[in-house]
Amino acid sequence: MNQWWRHAVFYEIYVRSFQDSNGDGIGDLDGIIQRLDYLNDGTPSSLGVDAVWLTPIYPSPMRDFGYDVADYVDVHPVFGDLRTFDRFVEEAHRRGIRVVLDFVPNHTSSEHPWFQDSRTSRTSPRRDWYIWRDPKPGGSPPNNWVSSFGGPAWSLDPHSAQYYLHSFLPEQPDLNWRNPQVIEAMENVLRFWLDRGVDGFRVDVIHKLVKDRALRDNPKPLPEEEHPVYHFGGQVHLYDEDQPEVHDIIRRWRTLLDRYGERMMVGEVYLFDAERIARYYGTGGDELHLAFNFRFLWSPWDAASFRHEVETMERLLPAGAQPTYVLSSHDAPRHLTRFDHPSLAHARARMAALMLLTLRGSPFLYYGEEIGMRDVPIPPDRICDPVGQRFPGLGRDPERTPMQWDAGPYAGFSTVEPWLPLPEDYKQCNVEAQRQDPASLLSFYRALIWKRKSSLALLEGGYRTLPCPESVFAYLREHREQTLAIALNFGSEPVTVTFPRGGRLWFATDPHQQHPVGLDWQLAPCEGIVVELEASPIH
Ligand code: GLC
Repeated sequence: MNQWWRHAVFYEIYVRSFQDSNGDGIGDLDGIIQRLDYLNDGTPSSLGVDAVWLTPIYPSPMRDFGYDVADYVDVHPVFGDLRTFDRFVEEAHRRGIRVVLDFVPNHTSSEHPWFQDSRTSRTSPRRDWYIWRDPKPGGSPPNNWVSSFGGPAWSLDPHSAQYYLHSFLPEQPDLNWRNPQVIEAMENVLRFWLDRGVDGFRVDVIHKLVKDRALRDNPKPLPEEEHPVYHFGGQVHLYDEDQPEVHDIIRRWRTLLDRYGERMMVGEVYLFDAERIARYYGTGGDELHLAFNFRFLWSPWDAASFRHEVETMERLLPAGAQPTYVLSSHDAPRHLTRFDHPSLAHARARMAALMLLTLRGSPFLYYGEEIGMRDVPIPPDRICDPVGQRFPGLGRDPERTPMQWDAGPYAGFSTVEPWLPLPEDYKQCNVEAQRQDPASLLSFYRALIWKRKSSLALLEGGYRTLPCPESVFAYLREHREQTLAIALNFGSEPVTVTFPRGGRLWFATDPHQQHPVGLDWQLAPCEGIVVELEASPIH
């Protein structure tokens, strides 16, 4: 079977911010269609990505910007309609770009007719589609679970005097995945989009679907300050996520997808324990095709730290499974901002990209990283994200700002003031400015992505860590036909690395700086190189 997702470079599009086509300041599907040639027109003058993942496009009151779905089988008018969507799929496929939709099964919007129905009374036919419980004696919530967005995970519905569960906002009630009718309804949703030709799904917070049957209290306390994301609410999340029964559901979905052939699922397994992430691949390939590993989002700029994350994943993944690393996403500060440095920021951006695109795995890029977009400061009166409204400074708007296409008004994104502000430097940092410049970050991404397509070592080769100086992360990608050695100098000092065999430079963050002498290679601060090694005598 064609396992296109194993070779693909994926590109996440935050739909509201990619391209506005109708002058309302919000990105839409027609806008994305206009920009498809930028993503891949079949020639190396385009970026060359193989698949796009669209953040939710469904009707939604937008309390969590589409992650609160009010209808799973339609398109929000702000983004287009089903006909625009069909045209989008057709245009993407015509260019060889696969389409991955965001599937949000853990919760609906409180405005979804299912919840509206569920909340009408304790005896509503859909009451059990959500998780309702009586208050504890005294009136407090049924247990101590907390919402990922702060506060209790329960809200009281005064009408029926019961609490309902919401892992996120009160406007995002959690579905009850122990109810077979929910399972069936959501399988129909998957079929609806598969029949329309989508190539796969990114499954939102998949690890959260099933909750402890007895809804037991989570153990606490844990030092939340130590890691506010892992230990949110100061709890060990023992009972409100990652329950064994979730795997039964994923296996059902896998069977469904397999019937369509060549479709894939990548799960947002927002767990930080590699062993638990690995379980979502199932055994013998019967669960997720890919599971995100988000540890890079929290890794400091440090060779040992990245090496550790990669080695851990390589050690724990089941045979045949492929990792998925990301440097940036719509939920975390952009990596150029995280890895900022007074003089080496751009060198770091190149080296990070070189790492992401040469590690074993299916890389996911986040729109704008290819031109070095940074987080944009958001004035308090323009904060949109509910997380930012609740916790000033922690919101996700800064990484969700409009794509910077050119130096014109509103960066070519829109003809009116966009929903989120543009940065001051967009006139310098944009696609148009970088497109023709061979020294730009965009040219670097483009060249590497196209070169990657022809490298068996990168597409299919194994991974092996190489011994090297402390400031360097070095590894081999080995295939019968080709062996590449990659060395990345995270340090601010020059360093020398020695490879096991001689070779020739295959790619580098700065191709002009190389002076190979025998087996030794000199690396400047934040420089990365890829060397194609001579065939080994053993081979
Ligand atoms: C996921 C999404 C995030 C959203 C949350 C609730 O983590 O990536 O943006 O807020 O789920 O659906």
